[in-house]
Amino acid sequence: MKEIVYQENIYPGTRAELVARLREVLSDHRFQHVLGVEQAAIKLAKQNGCSVEKASIAALLHDYTKERSAEDFIAAIKTYHLDPDLLRWGNFIWHGVVGAEMVKTELHVTDEEILNAIRRHTVGAVTMTTLDKIVYVADYIEAGRSFPGVDQARKLAATNLDQAVSFETKHTIQFLMEQNKPVYPQAILTYNRWVAGKK
Ligand SMILES: [Fe+2]
Ligand SMILES: [Fe+2]
Repeated sequence: MKEIVYQENIYPGTRAELVARLREVLSDHRFQHVLGVEQAAIKLAKQNGCSVEKASIAALLHDYTKERSAEDFIAAIKTYHLDPDLLRWGNFIWHGVVGAEMVKTELHVTDEEILNAIRRHTVGAVTMTTLDKIVYVADYIEAGRSFPGVDQARKLAATNLDQAVSFETKHTIQFLMEQNKPVYPQAILTYNRWVAGKK
C-alpha cells in the first residue's frame, strides 16, 4: 500500500511513527485489529467521499487507550473535568470519550473531526459525520471480525453506510440486552435516531 501522507496540522508525525507508537501501547491482537479497522475505514472513505487521511488517523487511534488501567481513566475523567457519571461506567465507554482526551494530550491531535470519531466509535451518536460513521462501522466489519451477521454488515457497508450504522447499533444493543448487560444511555439515543428513525 502506498503510504498515506499526513499533513502536519492533522497529525504531527508520519503514519509509520503512529503505527510504531501503537505497537508499543497495544497487544498484538489489538494492534492487528486496529490495522484492520484502518483498511476498512480507508475503503469506506473512498466510497463515501471522505478524507482518506482522516479515516486512517481516526481508525488507527480509535482504540489507542483500550488497554489502559481503570485508574488511568478515572484520573483522566477528573483531570479533564468530564461528566462524573462516567465514573459509573467502564473501559468499554471510557476508551472512546475519555480516550479522545488522552489522544489530544498525549499525541497532540487537535482535529475535532478525528477526536469526535474516536469519542463516538463505541456507542455512536444522534448526529454523526461521515467520518464518525466510517470509524464506527469499520470497527465492526474489519477483516478480523467473525460473528453471526458480520457478512450482512459488510454487505450493507459496501452499499449504504447509514444502513450499516443502523444494523450495527441494533445488533450491539440486542447483544447487550440478551446478556442482561447495561446499555449506555447515549446508545439508546443512537438507536432512536438510526434504527427507529426518530427525528
Ligand atoms: Fe473501541
Ligand atoms: Fe476497535
